[in-house]
Amino acid sequence: MATEVYDFDTIHDRKNTQAYKWTWFPDAIPLSVAEMEFPVAPEVLDALHQRVEHGFFGYTGPADELREVIVQKMKDLHSWDVNPDHILFNPGMVLMLNVIAQCVGKAGDGILMTMPAYGPFLRVPENRGRFPQMVAMTRVDDDASTFHYEMDFDAFEAAIIPQTSLYFLCNPHNPVGLAFKQAELERIAEICLKHDIVIASDDIHCEIQLGDSQHIPIASLSSEIADKTITMISHTKPYNMAGLACSAAIVSNDDLRERIQAKSRASGYHSDTLAFTAMLAAYRDSGAWLHAASRYITANRDYYVQFVRDNLPLLKTTIPDGTYMAWIDCSALNLSDEYDNASDFFFKEANVGLNPGTFFGDKFGDYVRLNFACPRAMLEEALHNMQAALEKLG
Ligand SMILES: Cc1ncc(COP(=O)(O)O)c(C=O)c1O
Repeated sequence: MATEVYDFDTIHDRKNTQAYKWTWFPDAIPLSVAEMEFPVAPEVLDALHQRVEHGFFGYTGPADELREVIVQKMKDLHSWDVNPDHILFNPGMVLMLNVIAQCVGKAGDGILMTMPAYGPFLRVPENRGRFPQMVAMTRVDDDASTFHYEMDFDAFEAAIIPQTSLYFLCNPHNPVGLAFKQAELERIAEICLKHDIVIASDDIHCEIQLGDSQHIPIASLSSEIADKTITMISHTKPYNMAGLACSAAIVSNDDLRERIQAKSRASGYHSDTLAFTAMLAAYRDSGAWLHAASRYITANRDYYVQFVRDNLPLLKTTIPDGTYMAWIDCSALNLSDEYDNASDFFFKEANVGLNPGTFFGDKFGDYVRLNFACPRAMLEEALHNMQAALEKLG
């Protein structure tokens, strides 16, 4: 399955590098944490080598060129005009969500999130003196093997109370793989604007295009929506370097941006020198790698979904059109108490590491999340192991 220039087929041994993905489920096939089993783009490696050779790693800010590259990217991909002065840099998305929670509304306010949700979203409200307002998305079963989620706009609006001041949007959505369509984003924005709710849009997975899916940043829809939105992007997921942490927040509302900047400064965090280098090389030079990786991952997704249809009748899966994770319903397994949950079952019986559904909300104990951004042979082995384990269940 080699693509023209890049080798995504080789399995790289990452044992003894302290990578969480390889230590959380020791010696298992690693399909959990949201990172790819591919080395970074050669352009990123070259830039890092050059920067390391320089030998100085002092406190460092972003190059002006990085702002310009982001502005150009937003224009090219989304026809969205971003002012370079509206971009803030910070060491990471989860940190930023914590900062934003303290900059919007007041202590005791509610933060909306749609369930299931990326685990750290769930913890921000109590970390920051707010409370979570969890709204279930509607699950729609397509056929015996697949299902998808849709926003329940009535439930979303009904959950809003006077104390609700912020919504954590995740687009594309981790873990359900939904790349929100324009009409859905317009409806979300309409409700948030009507109730004066700020949208923190976590677009960390945005540049990975599965098939012909398209990402639309909610703030790109109108300047009125942009004025109520903080859009967060990062090179770390699409270009695969979560350990070189840095993210950018686009905030056109002056008052909000100043508050976020002040709170970030007060927190004492500062970004990593090498992360800025990596971010620039990723965004400026690594488009061909990303395109090839997206194609490889799309083919993996299609292989995986067909495998579930043909060989795993006890499982039901989403067909993600964003991210590189599938969300799997394992409720038909009827597991004994011998296993903590379905993830524990697949770890013990199939030697495959998958995220337990409870990471994404208490009610999701019957689910697991599977990361298919890996060499095809690794995915094949994991799926065959899972098939054998399920067949033993009877
Ligand atoms: C939706 C989402 N947001 C944020 C993060 C983590 O971002 P960071 O490492 O910048 O804190 C992840 C990581 O998987 C994610 O999936």
